[in-house]
Amino acid sequence: MTEDTVLPAQREQVTVGEPLLEVSGLTKYFPVKGGFPIKRTVGHVQAVDGIDLTVRVGESFGLVGESGCGKSTTGRLITRLLEPTSGSIAYRGKDISRATRRQLAPIRSEIQMIFQDPYSSLNPRQTVGKIISGPMEINGITPEGGREKRVRELLEIVGLNPEHFNRFPHEFSGGQRQRIGVARALALEPKLIVADEPVSALDVSIQAQVVNLLQKVQKELGIAFLFIAHDLAVVRHFSQRVAVMYLGKIIEVGDREAIYNRPRHPYTHALLSAVPEVNLTDDGESAGRERIRLAGDVPSPISPPSGCRFRTRCWKAQDKCATEEPPLVRISGNQEGHLTACHFPEEPTTEARDEDIVLDPALVALEEGAGE
Ligand SMILES: Nc1ncnc2c1ncn2[C@@H]1O[C@H](COP(=O)(O)OP(=O)(O)O)[C@@H](O)[C@H]1O
Ligand code: SF4
Ligand SMILES: [Mg+2]
Repeated sequence: MTEDTVLPAQREQVTVGEPLLEVSGLTKYFPVKGGFPIKRTVGHVQAVDGIDLTVRVGESFGLVGESGCGKSTTGRLITRLLEPTSGSIAYRGKDISRATRRQLAPIRSEIQMIFQDPYSSLNPRQTVGKIISGPMEINGITPEGGREKRVRELLEIVGLNPEHFNRFPHEFSGGQRQRIGVARALALEPKLIVADEPVSALDVSIQAQVVNLLQKVQKELGIAFLFIAHDLAVVRHFSQRVAVMYLGKIIEVGDREAIYNRPRHPYTHALLSAVPEVNLTDDGESAGRERIRLAGDVPSPISPPSGCRFRTRCWKAQDKCATEEPPLVRISGNQEGHLTACHFPEEPTTEARDEDIVLDPALVALEEGAGE
């Protein structure tokens, strides 16, 4: 694949490393309805609560955290599938957080989304050709040589047979369907792809192949990625920078190296300890993965803990953690760009991590009882 075949008409040159997307104070509260006979708002799910992040041109930014912490909501806010409660989203310097449909039109094509579930995200009644050319049609774009030629090119780029454009989604495997989703996302030559757990629904043996495809797309086409994942294993080889989310907030962010080798937040330590060395290799091998085993449940985002939201599960929590919310800042010992939100951070090392982890005794008993 050469850049020429894929991007015949680069609309505007942008320099790698410049900020492409700048999110600031982004917040989404979903109202909770209750009461009888008249339903009223009785509270709010604080799904995303004031997050800041910057994705630079051509870079892959990983967003990681347990289920329910607000990752998909963040992705949907950025792709403007949801309206933010407050905060701003600047794309190439322009605030798009409140832009109307019309104002968004010129940049809509530049930000695309790949969804978690390749089964439900493709229309079963449309041919693959129709699915992939859909975004071109909607945006009135006819590439040189026509849409069908472009569809064939795209199928080739994502590793599918270009002759299969007349087939329907059910004729493809899960991994192949996700490749169709990637082809559709590439159809309009985007500059940013928000990939929401793009491999979580796939067999482990297929995950590495799709991750490799995305990595190829990112590197060779210079497309920036916001890559959402629920564990650190998947983004390890993919993302230059990683942010860790917990209950609607980013609690640590930094270069890959800092997050994996010198994490400071107890939660990042816990996430890393739950992830054995995983090697995503070219031949599609990928080691198994354990679940995060922290004591207690994730608190409800309707009434999150005061102060530090992680305190109810943190082995280092002290009084201050309940009264003062730790700001996300560069703490002493961190390199530039490595920010941590914790009053009593861990040493910048990955050693002794096993002792630090509080296992839920009930969970351990269950697992031992399972006899595996
Ligand atoms: N449309 C919605 N209405 C109400 N609550 C929602 C809605 N979408 C998500 N939530 C809630 O917001 C929180 C964050 O969800 P989500 O962004 O999907 O997390 P993640 O992708 O990290 O699993 C969860 O508590 C979820 O139940
Ligand atoms: S601020 Fe306190 S409760 Fe929160 S992670 Fe740090 S030590 Fe744990
Ligand atoms: Mg999600």
